[in-house]
Amino acid sequence: MNQQNSEHSTKLWGGRFRERTAASVEAFTASIDYDCRLFRYDIAGSKAHATMLADQGVLSGEDLAAILAGLSEIEAEIAAGTFTLRPELEDIHMNIEKALVERIGPAGARLHSGRSRNDQIAVDFKLYLRDECDRLVQLLDAIRRAFTRLARRYLGAVMPGYTHLQRAQPVLVSHHLLAYFEMFGRDRGRLLDCRNRLNLSPLGCAALAGTGLPVDRQQVAEALGFAGITANSIDSAGDRDFAIEFTSACALIQLHLSRLSEELVLWSTQEFDFVDIPDRFCTGSSIMPQKKNPDIPELIRGKSGRVVGSLMTLLTLVKGLPLTYNRDLQEDKEPVFDAVDTVSASLAIMAELLSGLEFKTERLAEATRSGCMTATDLADYLVLKNVPFREAHGIVGRAVAHSLNAGKDLSELSLSELQSFSAVIEADVFTVLAVEGSVNSRLSAGGTALPRVREALAAAEEQVGSK
Ligand code: ARG
Repeated sequence: MNQQNSEHSTKLWGGRFRERTAASVEAFTASIDYDCRLFRYDIAGSKAHATMLADQGVLSGEDLAAILAGLSEIEAEIAAGTFTLRPELEDIHMNIEKALVERIGPAGARLHSGRSRNDQIAVDFKLYLRDECDRLVQLLDAIRRAFTRLARRYLGAVMPGYTHLQRAQPVLVSHHLLAYFEMFGRDRGRLLDCRNRLNLSPLGCAALAGTGLPVDRQQVAEALGFAGITANSIDSAGDRDFAIEFTSACALIQLHLSRLSEELVLWSTQEFDFVDIPDRFCTGSSIMPQKKNPDIPELIRGKSGRVVGSLMTLLTLVKGLPLTYNRDLQEDKEPVFDAVDTVSASLAIMAELLSGLEFKTERLAEATRSGCMTATDLADYLVLKNVPFREAHGIVGRAVAHSLNAGKDLSELSLSELQSFSAVIEADVFTVLAVEGSVNSRLSAGGTALPRVREALAAAEEQVGSK
């Protein structure tokens, strides 16, 4: 009875157990279906760990050679899809280790000295996220390049700028596009911050308390390209801040994409009619033959729910956990993987769509000529003629009421009509009432005047390359 486990159990931890794990429990606890995504990182971590153990004299040179060769063979088979992943072995760590022991015998069984699956999964996950940060930064640079190209193509075109979704002041189309360049630039910075903070190796922290075996954590960290080692083994065994920070950066990216999507959906309606999304990026209706639907932006907007949901999952997961590792933490991977997949696919397809987006410049210009959008300019004009701003606001308000009543734009009123609201108004007022004059007067740093936007665009192109 006492030996039953060693004969029957496939488990690497089977020693203290007197009966086999229930099949239902194996199915419920297995994570191999998704954590197999980490196999390359798991193997890289094991190779660095084994090499260090050999340097410390814990492993012989022969054992090390067998381990490294065995791990390479397993890695190649997993990559080729010829390796059988076994759910009864729970996770990627056990699947690889068990295969190694089966192939190379006792040398394989020495690999797990001085480490635990707790520091092992932490190192795998960090290595994986480090690569994903780099990949997402590339995708962000690609979409930012798509914005600079559009901004260059439409440089000089005007459009209504909005607050409260009410026409507010005319702006340059390129200025609006470069707003997104900034937003995705901050996302890039957040990912690099996250990468920087997570780039410390937890390996050697073992289960939670460190290890009594001679390990050189610094050596392992260097071999894996980490900037250093984590300071506290207890913290390291239970820390998932890095996954939360990463997913939070993903959530913001997806929210930025969602706001852009909302604008594209609005702009492509007959009501706005500001842009044309090429047919290849749209789909039709099964019943209404005239329809052309902006499904890509709609889906991206919809998928923001998934990414925000992933962030909520992780925050909730960690909220009540005592230190250090708890099995709950196994639930951290699927939300992160889903966020990575969703954000990557959304960024890529949005960049593609932007490269084909067409602005209807005539229609945009026409839209800036109604709605008294240069009212602020008239108020500023009065201020420059020494009228206090609050008084100027009142004067222009009355002029706007008059315009709306007459069904005209401010710029369409006659000089004498305008002068009936203030005697200081002279013929030069028409320069500021015209859209061009309005836009180009906004020379403040970061403003929409053409010279400012030219500078901003040049700086943006400098960052991402214009070609
Ligand atoms: N599959 C586990 C996870 O993803 C690995 C760590 C398991 N550690 C343990 N002590 N059971 O979290």
